[in-house]
Amino acid sequence: MAETSHPAFAKACHLLGIEERRGPIDPVSTLVDLDWVADHVDDATLAVVGSACNYGYGTLDPIRELGAIAGERGVGCHVDSCLGGFLLPFAEELGYPVPAFDLRVPGVTSISADTHKYGYAFEGTSTLLFADRELRNAQYFYMTDWSGGKYCS
Ligand SMILES: Cc1ncc(COP(=O)(O)O)c(C=O)c1O
Repeated sequence: MAETSHPAFAKACHLLGIEERRGPIDPVSTLVDLDWVADHVDDATLAVVGSACNYGYGTLDPIRELGAIAGERGVGCHVDSCLGGFLLPFAEELGYPVPAFDLRVPGVTSISADTHKYGYAFEGTSTLLFADRELRNAQYFYMTDWSGGKYCS
């Protein structure tokens, strides 16, 4: 992921024991160095991450190119659209030149969009969408033999 990716990824990687790799950005465009990303995907990589948009600058990572790298290497590609997910689709409808940044992009496997930001819902609510059902099905947790009843989240 780019250096500009949200600290939420650092936190998740820390808690889950996953190595996080943050690549340099171009100081003018603020976009991640794609060669660096391609060079840092290896056999243990879970996913490439792109932001649409990032928190610090509001710029969009090159999602099409990140999706292509991930697709070629057979790893996931998550788009963090927590901030932009409820802005960019409307900007696109208004005719602004918004590059494809979501599940339409080949190679993108998941995208997050925070309802609690520009969805104007309560803090703590959010969405996570998956490109395929199998990946989504891996997110469910069931406990069916609990004394309190059947639990599913
Ligand atoms: C781009 C981006 N990604 C992720 C997050 C993390 O969101 P949350 O605090 O809901 O985990 C934020 C929050 O500011 C954000 O702006």
